[in-house]
Amino acid sequence: MHQGRTTLSKFLIQQLKGSPEQNDLAALLVDIAAAVKAISAMTAKGELGGVLGSLDSTNVQGETQKKLDVMSNTAFINTFSMGGLVAGLASEENDDPVEIDPQDGTGRFLAIFDPLDGSSNIDVNVSVGSIFSVLRAPQGRSPTTEDFLRPGRQQLAAGYAIYGPSTMFVLTVGKGTHGFTLDREVGNFILTHPHMEVPAETSEFAINASNERFWEPPVQRYVTECKNGKTDVRGRDFNMRWIASMVADIHRILMRGGVFMYPRDTKDKSKPGRLRLMYEANPMSFVIEQAGGIGSTGRHRIMDLQPSEIHQRVPVIIGSRNEVERIERYHLEYDRGEDEQYKSPLFQERSLFAS
Ligand code: AHG
Ligand code: MN
Ligand code: MN
Repeated sequence: MHQGRTTLSKFLIQQLKGSPEQNDLAALLVDIAAAVKAISAMTAKGELGGVLGSLDSTNVQGETQKKLDVMSNTAFINTFSMGGLVAGLASEENDDPVEIDPQDGTGRFLAIFDPLDGSSNIDVNVSVGSIFSVLRAPQGRSPTTEDFLRPGRQQLAAGYAIYGPSTMFVLTVGKGTHGFTLDREVGNFILTHPHMEVPAETSEFAINASNERFWEPPVQRYVTECKNGKTDVRGRDFNMRWIASMVADIHRILMRGGVFMYPRDTKDKSKPGRLRLMYEANPMSFVIEQAGGIGSTGRHRIMDLQPSEIHQRVPVIIGSRNEVERIERYHLEYDRGEDEQYKSPLFQERSLFAS
């Protein structure tokens, strides 16, 4: 029998039937999709919508906020405030978690999100995105900051939207990773990419190569070998891509394989990486691992890290299984002092690289 098109709502009813928590999670994901549609419409207007450019404000990380950062944040907060399903939220654009006033009792979930990822690309009309992560809220009391600080493996759902030539919504509830494309005229997300899989083998890598001199030796080793291509141990040539929107880079890797790296570097020693654990690294790791890939710091599985603060940064190495495992091995060999060419002067002091 012909099944017809599968809308996001239809898909979620099928994937999340059963407990009241599952039903509420389906409703929450539909709410998130509504916020995504609003942001998609805003980004698509570009200069005509007066949405480009920066504000005078900075966020907690000292980054100048773009108009669209703040507008997208507001779209998510309004959606969660009205939906009655979320007890608290944490955002890249808010210093601290925000409690949502309970309407009919306390919501079951905590929402953590990067409302607009790739902000530096807004004004040049290059793909941007939104990233979200859903945790279970404590029942019978207000959430505290500690309630948000859960390892990524406890996420109930995670995903992202990409505002590219088409708008897509990609999500996981722990049952594979699935992609939907926005049918703009109708306003529905349609299942177009069921059971996405990251190929284990790849010949593409993504990294901001201008930071090369700040990287640790195992990352320098990996990238050097990729660049040497056929003439070195890899025996084949590699391509490099860097969009500078994590969402867009990860989306490409989901579609055709590759590895995305924002590794630890020494550019700013106070920051163990550029990307944030709670609303970038964890949700993207969940999405990629549900598609057969790996999310790692180079030394640990990202989703096993115990967070210490909402805006914590971590090294990120995400993508095709074989490549991430190879990069983890290079870190291990370096830390043990086993790598002849890239020997660690610090291999007795491994605690310096704990995360
Ligand atoms: P955000 O816009 O949410 O602050 O995140 C930007 C991140 C990420 O999307 C991207 O991979 C990275 O920053 C780009 O960094 P570079 O500017 O070093 O290329
Ligand atoms: Mn981001
Ligand atoms: Mn952002």
